[in-house]
Amino acid sequence: MCGIVGYLGPLNPKDVILQGLKKLEYRGYDSAGVAILHHGKAKQVRAPGKLSALEDKLKNETFDGHLGIGHTRWATHGAPTETNAHPHQVDGISLVHNGIIENYQDIRETLIKSGAQILSDTDSELVAHLIAREVKKTKNLYLAVEHILPELRGAFSIVAIWNEAPDEMVAFKDGPPLVVGIGEKQAFVASDVQALLNYTKKFIYLEDREIVSIKGDKIEIFTAQGAPIIKKVTEINWNPEMVEKQGFAHFMLKEIYEQPRSVAAALEPHTNAQTHEVHLKTEGLGSAEFSDLLKKTKRFCIVACGTSFYAAQVAKYLIETLAQVPVDIDVASEFRYRSPVLEKDTLFMTISQSGETADTLAALRLAKEKGLQILSLCNVKNSTIDREAHIKLYMLSGPEIGVASTKAFTSTLTVLSCLSLQWAKSKGTLLKADEKEMVQALLAAPAQLEVVLAYDKYFKETAQKLKNYRGFLYMGRGLSYPIAMEGALKMKELAYLHAEGYAAGEMKHGPLALIDNRMAIVMLCPKDQWYEKTFSNLEEAKARGGEVLALGTGEDENLKRKSHFYLALPKAHWIVNPLLSTIPLQLMAYHLAFQLGYDVDQPRNLAKSVTVE
Ligand code: G6P
Repeated sequence: MCGIVGYLGPLNPKDVILQGLKKLEYRGYDSAGVAILHHGKAKQVRAPGKLSALEDKLKNETFDGHLGIGHTRWATHGAPTETNAHPHQVDGISLVHNGIIENYQDIRETLIKSGAQILSDTDSELVAHLIAREVKKTKNLYLAVEHILPELRGAFSIVAIWNEAPDEMVAFKDGPPLVVGIGEKQAFVASDVQALLNYTKKFIYLEDREIVSIKGDKIEIFTAQGAPIIKKVTEINWNPEMVEKQGFAHFMLKEIYEQPRSVAAALEPHTNAQTHEVHLKTEGLGSAEFSDLLKKTKRFCIVACGTSFYAAQVAKYLIETLAQVPVDIDVASEFRYRSPVLEKDTLFMTISQSGETADTLAALRLAKEKGLQILSLCNVKNSTIDREAHIKLYMLSGPEIGVASTKAFTSTLTVLSCLSLQWAKSKGTLLKADEKEMVQALLAAPAQLEVVLAYDKYFKETAQKLKNYRGFLYMGRGLSYPIAMEGALKMKELAYLHAEGYAAGEMKHGPLALIDNRMAIVMLCPKDQWYEKTFSNLEEAKARGGEVLALGTGEDENLKRKSHFYLALPKAHWIVNPLLSTIPLQLMAYHLAFQLGYDVDQPRNLAKSVTVE
């Protein structure tokens, strides 16, 4: 997630901005840069990679101005190169941006026609061009920003400075968060308060479609139409627990927002970003031995609970499709109390974020007693399940505090995708070209997750409209079926509303009877091999008066027409769709629960780690 810091005041802008950017590192990024006034012009210094690379470049740089902006960029449009790094500069305008400009292609074409020299692949640079064009007419930075806003579509925050206005900074937010920090004869702008806590505890939280003009020590806030607004200044009184939330209202929200980073971390050990090959790395068995084991395995059995179980259900689809190995899945509390037939050539897997879930652990022990090889996938290293398994994989999500699992789920899906590819590769059922295509798609997933997160305001708006439904039916086919179950689980856990996940094809065997205008049908309908069948199910629901919230791919006009609410996800490879579809379902449950006044991080009656039966 991109991070923004802007500073106007008597301190050294280089130090303030670098320190702020460091505090925003947790958001994840792959390049960074600053633009700071020097001899009346903003000097731009940018570097791909970690902040330390930028710091190295800045070591011998001095600046005599008191205004500057900085940015950590998580690449979405364009690779993480120096040219694509922010700030972008056009004719004296320097700009940093977080979010997505949806109509960037149209803007780009128009700009090129008018003779603009576009240097980067980003959507962000185009905004700098628009402001530069406008400021020539208005001779006023604030007005230039205000005038170009109607030309931009999407979810984004921007901060701009202009060489001709050395004591002015203008920012706008419509989507990704932006706060204004207020100091003694100084002002700041940042993506979150965390970045500025060393300098101030006084903040103004910008709402969507508000513009702030900071001029000298005057801070003024306006609507996008230019009407002045009086905003509340919030004094932050931090306790350590809140600091751990890194500026987010809840751990859960922070963890949802961490997913681009946690998915990238989960992929990293198992994929080669240059060759786009998969090389699954396990602990407890070398790669070649593990590959041999996969080749020999005749049956795979996965046991887990809760969210981890739904991830197992995704793995069944993936492994059976790609590696053509039969996969049995079971919830641990059932598995341990029936008489499972466990044959010698079966590989047994447990999935557990905590590594401590009692039923899952008991299932592991049962399988171990029967002499099976145990593969585990845990988040918490050295947990009991991790210690007792023979072969170990890790989610690498970092601590997950919110009781309702979020980032551990998408990390699990990521590792299971890699396992499926490795299995198919070991068995010779995967074409080289398919391996490359799918690994490439997975490596692109973090940036696509970032795009989905940038649409949070739409998920929030939609959640507001869901309050009056009596219940929810989440439907999907194929890979979307387990995601529908996980979506329903989030709604139950957090908003305490009845929600059921169902295979869309099963609707006519029961759930159709439930449909009326108080039952919302959440239909997962991405453009994949199940699309047409799912679409027919949606029509069945619609024909019976059902109100459908559809999750589709891009501007799907047909789906939009049939739906009461329509939420678009970026076009992606089918292996990535489950990751992308999960985000809106998590966020809608989160927002709805929050609006209903529930404890989002600690839902009633539930625990993070269930160590009793
Ligand atoms: C609890 C948590 C769930 C979690 C489940 C399994 O019910 O509230 O979020 O999915 O346990 O936990 P595990 O740690 O084994 O993945």
